[in-house]
Amino acid sequence: MKKVLVIYYSQSGQLLEITNNITKDLLADSEVNLSFYNIKLKEDYPFPWSKDVFYNTFPESFSQTPTALNDLDNPLLKEKYDLIIFSYQVWYLTPSIPANSFLKSDIATTLFKNTPVITIIGCRNMWYMAQDKMKQLLLNLDANLVGNIVLTDRHINHVSVVTIVHWMMNGDKTKRYLGLFPLPGISQKDIDTAIKFSPTILKHLKSGNYDATQEELIKQDATRIKPFLILVDRKANLIFSFWSKLVLRKEKISIQKREKYVKLFSYYLLFAIWVVSPIVFIVYLLAYPFTAKKRQLDINYYQRTALK
Ligand SMILES: Cc1cc2nc3c(=O)[nH]c(=O)nc-3n(C[C@H](O)[C@H](O)[C@H](O)COP(=O)(O)O)c2cc1C
Repeated sequence: MKKVLVIYYSQSGQLLEITNNITKDLLADSEVNLSFYNIKLKEDYPFPWSKDVFYNTFPESFSQTPTALNDLDNPLLKEKYDLIIFSYQVWYLTPSIPANSFLKSDIATTLFKNTPVITIIGCRNMWYMAQDKMKQLLLNLDANLVGNIVLTDRHINHVSVVTIVHWMMNGDKTKRYLGLFPLPGISQKDIDTAIKFSPTILKHLKSGNYDATQEELIKQDATRIKPFLILVDRKANLIFSFWSKLVLRKEKISIQKREKYVKLFSYYLLFAIWVVSPIVFIVYLLAYPFTAKKRQLDINYYQRTALK
């Protein structure tokens, strides 16, 4: 009997639906004991989000400050597993606060130690540096990352920015913004076809050999990589680092100062998306003929499970 634990958190249910599909064959197999653990926060984030809470989540999210969790004495967390499937979403270019908090909890130390882990990401499209942070978190736990599956919104960057914000603020994935924009989030087709990863995971779970897991997942298009988005992600991480530290410094003076700087950050974010990012895109296109090697190196790296 192989024991597998799926750990997840999902506000809209999108990531849970993806995870259910990816683990379908494991659930159906009589030789696999599959359990699900839903990360529970002492004070959960609202869904749909209000604008204020959405932006106010930024400093702690980016600085990877953990929040208090419930249900950490769940018996599921006291056992050891042949495989852990860790499903997470990206908040502000970083593993979401629920995901990060769980991995920083005491219970994670024994749970993850020397255990193979497959990560599943369901996000808008910017997951590259978040997965680097995830690799570091798993390394700190002595876990063994053996696979990564990423599902994103395939629409162009600026379209998905508009549609996801609309979705996050009204909570309804079936509503088109202004009746014109495409549906937000990961397409139903991509969610449904994520079942294709299930036999690959089952095969490696049964053999107990995960050496070729990621290689086979890549052949199934598990990590679609866009070098332009890697560039934006890297630049944005530098800028977010500045803003996150600034807001947290201001908070030490007063909560009013924090609020003021979070507001300034929200304006800056709009400026970065609508003004800076198109400029970065033009620079990227101009440099394109000279960056083939770098782009290929980036693709290779983000397909791998090892940390640089
Ligand atoms: C506060 C917040 C910040 C987000 N930041 C990012 C981000 O930096 N990159 C990204 O690709 N998606 C981002 N997303 C989208 C999420 O990764 C995710 O796709 C969405 O919240 C749906 O996940 P769910 O399964 O929890 O409902 C963000 C969402 C929220 C709520």
